[in-house]
Amino acid sequence: MQDKIIAGKMKAIRMHSRGGPENLVYEDANIPKISKGEVLIRVHAASITPTELTWNSSFTDRNKKERFPVIPSFEVSGTVSGLSSEVKHLKLGDEVYGLLDFWRNGAAAEYVETDATEITLKPSTLDHISAASLPLSGLTAWQALFDHGHLKPGQTVLIHGAGGGVGSLAVQIARWKGAEVIGTCSKNKEVIVRQLGANQVIDYSNARFEDVANGVDLVLDTVGGEVLNRSYQTVRRGGTVVSIADDIDEELARKYGAEGISFLVEPNRRELREIALLADSGKIKPVIQDTFPLRDAKQAFISGITNHNTGKTVLRVID
Ligand SMILES: NC(=O)c1ccc[n+]([C@@H]2O[C@H](COP(=O)([O-])OP(=O)(O)OC[C@H]3O[C@@H](n4cnc5c(N)ncnc54)[C@H](OP(=O)(O)O)[C@@H]3O)[C@@H](O)[C@H]2O)c1
Repeated sequence: MQDKIIAGKMKAIRMHSRGGPENLVYEDANIPKISKGEVLIRVHAASITPTELTWNSSFTDRNKKERFPVIPSFEVSGTVSGLSSEVKHLKLGDEVYGLLDFWRNGAAAEYVETDATEITLKPSTLDHISAASLPLSGLTAWQALFDHGHLKPGQTVLIHGAGGGVGSLAVQIARWKGAEVIGTCSKNKEVIVRQLGANQVIDYSNARFEDVANGVDLVLDTVGGEVLNRSYQTVRRGGTVVSIADDIDEELARKYGAEGISFLVEPNRRELREIALLADSGKIKPVIQDTFPLRDAKQAFISGITNHNTGKTVLRVID
């Protein structure tokens, strides 16, 4: 089944029980075996989402059965080092990137196995650290703006958390599409959000966005809570509020004549290729807050949770 068998031990970051970063341990684990339709990736870099240790999926399978020990980090860039014979679109040695299944082990390890349909060639102009910063944020931004928000050239989108992991890519992708972008962020991110292409930036500590933005076609919310609930009044009637961070209050959405949508990002190889092409043509640039060696993943998570990050935090697996 496997063209090249790799067996033995690898270094990995694992958790043996639920909890925060304090439960992450750097230790030996078995190199995973691949099944039908899967590839084994030699991980070069893996990105974290600071909140992922609060997701139920990080600790269970799709049937909600706990699956300890677990490996975090769902964005990977690396080299194909094993593949099952059914996989036709990749070969050994290909440099690939992708978003992994949230209900399986992640990429904070020297090797990870994954369904080949989730993986594609990485942007050829980017190194592995930059490539690993793109899949989750890029796909989430893409699906929020286009699959759910149906953003068109010339429309206006209000993006909350515009300097964060998802927001920083959403600003660039929306501008590439020809949309007008209003971004909200803290004062210290104003400059970068403008550099990313936002036409207007609102420092949320200084102004209420609903006093500045109104009649927008789409809101992309990456913050949730009261930020989401105050957003319905900023869209035009018939406009859309998409949240990746919280549930929609249907009553509130109806009151303002808006459509409210919350969704969970899905792996999508075709969209990943589009994102790779945008990166290779310089239309979008990865935004990276910090990098940490694999063994310091605990520190990476603590930093991600406690700091107001600009962009992604990436683990360097091969230094
Ligand atoms: N549904 C999905 O499929 C999906 C996919 C990916 C992520 N997520 C979730 O989406 C959320 C964002 O993810 P991320 O990776 O982008 O996180 P992140 O990198 O931490 O970005 C969040 C950003 O929001 C900003 N922020 C905080 N309070 C704000 C406010 N009141 N107004 C405007 N901006 C504010 C933060 O920094 P400043 O305050 O300094 O500006 C930060 O830049 C997380 O909860 C994550 O779990 C969901």
